[in-house]
Parts: sequence; C-alpha cells; structure tokens
Amino acid sequence: VSRVIPVDTFDLVIFGGTGDLARRKILPGLYRRFTGGQMPPDSRIIAAARSEMDDTAYRAQVRAALEEFVPAGKRDEAGVAGFLERIHYVAIDATGTSGWADLKKMMRPDVVRAFYFSVAPSLFGALAERLHERGIAGPQSRIVVEKPFGRDLESARALNRVLALHFAEEQIYRIDHYLGKETVQNLMAVRFANILFEPLWKAQYIDHVQITVAETVGVGGRGAYYDTSGAMRDMVQNHLMQLLCLIAMEPPYHFDPNAVRDEKLKVIRALDPVPPEDIVRGQYLAGGGQESYVDHAGNPRSRTESYIALKVHIANWRWKGTPFYLRTGKRLRARASEIAITFREPPHSIFDDAEDWRENVLVIRLQPDEGINLKVMIKEPGPGGMRLTQVPLDMSFAEALGPDGEDIPDAYERLIMDVIRGNQTLFMRGDEVEAAWAWADPIIAAWERRGDRPKTYEPGTSGPEDALMLMHRDGRRWREIR
Ligand code: BG6
Repeated sequence: VSRVIPVDTFDLVIFGGTGDLARRKILPGLYRRFTGGQMPPDSRIIAAARSEMDDTAYRAQVRAALEEFVPAGKRDEAGVAGFLERIHYVAIDATGTSGWADLKKMMRPDVVRAFYFSVAPSLFGALAERLHERGIAGPQSRIVVEKPFGRDLESARALNRVLALHFAEEQIYRIDHYLGKETVQNLMAVRFANILFEPLWKAQYIDHVQITVAETVGVGGRGAYYDTSGAMRDMVQNHLMQLLCLIAMEPPYHFDPNAVRDEKLKVIRALDPVPPEDIVRGQYLAGGGQESYVDHAGNPRSRTESYIALKVHIANWRWKGTPFYLRTGKRLRARASEIAITFREPPHSIFDDAEDWRENVLVIRLQPDEGINLKVMIKEPGPGGMRLTQVPLDMSFAEALGPDGEDIPDAYERLIMDVIRGNQTLFMRGDEVEAAWAWADPIIAAWERRGDRPKTYEPGTSGPEDALMLMHRDGRRWREIR
C-alpha cells in the first residue's frame, strides 16, 4: 500500500495559471495529489494571470486541461468536481498594481503559503517585490521558480540577486523536474542504502559512466525559445548535470537538504573544462513526416544544437581517470533515459575463454520502464565446460513493486508536495545553479566564438555519426538507444 505523507493545509498561488506548464503539469499533478488524499481538503489553489475571468470560467479551463492531460482511467467526475471547488482565480497585473489587493484579501492566515512563478523569468523580480511589499508573502512563505534559471552565469546571478532582495534561500524552491523523478531519487537509495555498490564506486573500479537522455519529440511549437537555448542550456546544464551529481557525489552525512546540496556543489566545482574535441553537437534533419530543426526554429542559419554529446572529467580523488559521457537530443530513435555504469575488468582472469568475458554494467533506467539492471558473468549452463556468458539481473519497478510500481507519481506532483512540506532536498540551491553555469559558460562561449556548426543527423537515429567517434577513439561504445 502506498504511504502518503500528510501535508499541512495550504494556499498555493500559481502565477501563470493559464499557461502551458500549469495546464500540462501543475494542475494535473495537483489533481492526482487531491484524489490520492495528500492534498488536505480545505487547501486551495489560486491561479493568477493577466486575463479577466471569474472562478467559473477558469474552472472550465482546468476541467479541459484535466481531460486532456489526466488519462480517462485515472479521473472521475466526483474527483474532478471536488478538485475544481478548491480552485480560484484572480486577474493580476504582475508588473502593475491591479489585482494585488484582491489576492491579498484571499490569502488565509495560519496556512502554508506558496507562490509558484510559472512565468517568464523577467517577471520574477516584479512578483517577488510585490508579494513582499504588499505583505502577501511573509517569512514562512515559499516561492517556486521554474527553469530556465538564467541562460548564463551573469543572468542566473541577477535572478538570484533579485529573489534574494525579498526572500531567504530557505524560501526559494528552484525546480529541476528531473530531481522529482522516482528513479532519480532511487539513485540515492541504491547508492546509500546498500553496502554493495559504494566500495566499488570510484575510478579504481569504474571504467566509465554514460548518461543518456534521448527524446523522440522535436522542438516543434517551441522553436523560438529553443533556438535561443539549445541542448546544452536546455538539458545539460540542469537535468544531466543533476544526474551526474547524484552519481558522482560523496555520501552526504544525512539525507538533509543542505547536506545533499553541499555534496552536489562540490562535484560541479570539480568539473574540468571540456575541450572542443570532446564535444559533438548536432541538428536533426527533416524526416518521418516532420520538418527539420532549422524549420522548427524558423531560422535557416541556426547554429543551435538539438543534440549534444560530451566527455566530462571530474577532477577529484574519487573520479580521476573515469570519464562521464553525456548525451541528449531531440528526434532520436526512442524516448529513453538511463545511466549506465561500466565496471573495469577483474585484475586477473583464471578462465581460458577470455573472449567471452564482458564488463559488468549497472544500468539505471529512468524512463520509460523504470528499473535497474545489472549485467553479471556466469557459467554458461550445460555440459560445455567452463564457458562464460553474461546475464542480466533485471528489476523493473513496475513488476517488482506491483501496482505501487505502476502508480509512480509524476515529478511535478511530488515536488509541489515537497514545497508544501518545506523540504528543499530535491530543489537546486542558488550556488549550485551558478556553479553549473560557471562550468557551461566557457564551453558555450568557445563554440560560439569559433562559429561552429552542428553536424546534421537523420531523425530516428542515435544522433550524428561523429558522436560515435567520441567513444570509439577511447575504445568504448555508446549503448544502444531503445
Ligand atoms: C525540459 C526541456 O526541461 O525537459 C525540454 O525544456 C525537454 O526540452 C523536457 O523535452 C524533458 O522532460 P521529460 O520529463 O519529458 O524527460
């Protein structure tokens, strides 16, 4: 039986309540927490946006969003009706004065107050200032901010500064939704709740690590944003970096927000600069009934990458000599995210058939089909003598955990409940985000300075051919994307 952690009654204000993220993720996620019994029944969701509208009109929008983004089997009329009653709407001018008094009147004393900034980062300052100066947010209130948290170190610092004018770091929840994924958290459980892996978790025993986040979608409808970003800013600086940190960090002394984030920060600070020869960038071509990247971006001369692969070194005692290969891209063969840890050879083989030997690989599958797979060598069964073969020790969470495993909560719903609980462990601290930009900036600046063009790749493949070379020349191979 799933255990649900109770949370206190809350008023959650969503700025950008009519936006895409609210429709796709935030509201459906809250709906599931409501029907799952975690959202206390007297809690409220207050959407705020520019359009003039009353509660009834907004609730109709929410109903439509739930119909679109919550599968029919997971939603019923009683649940939807009950959820809609918890929802209110205020029209507000984020940078002006109208609506703020209405919002203030709606807030209740003695309940948790959280403010979700699901708006363009250029509005963060105005929102923070008004919430503070009008006394709507107090020292116990929390604010939640979405990515992109800046597009370089300077802009990230500016955002941190503007938020810090009105809120303490303990009140700021910077979302990286990858940290809310079930299996991403499982990385920490696997590493730190088992004695099995940790003694081997170092350069001496690990040959290399591969982190793959492959997507089949293109940048379709969001080409204009994406073209100013690219895979490095959109995915590597945040999501892949967080995965790398969870794999590479030292054991925190406690599963405590700052203890965990201190260890992640040390990893980011230990990253070596990445030279151009260790980076391959790509852009997808047209195919499979879809336009090419440059068409999606509306920019025939675009040099933005929809794919990137890079080799990263962590310069510390634990990892010196073990490269981390990272890759992510759009329009690839499959939607598949995984971390694969390849171990080294045993120091000496006692068996004759050395050619059948394969490395141990621990694969942590993030999505879809969450699970863990460990490839081990055994004796080939039968009378053929001592021949070796490799078999997987395979655990799919859906199978191992039964119905609970299938009902894995979405990243957003979990993270929003963590905000209400006041638990920052799965949120990025300001210094972490800045350190990640400090690493990414010179890498991006170098290819921009040289005017490098990304290599093209066919959709439905595993990316540009050159990315294969990145590993081949080290005598290694990417795992297949599937
Ligand atoms: C977002 C990126 O942060 O993550 C998108 O902006 C990307 O470009 C998305 O598609 C991937 O998230 P998920 O949860 O589908 O792996």
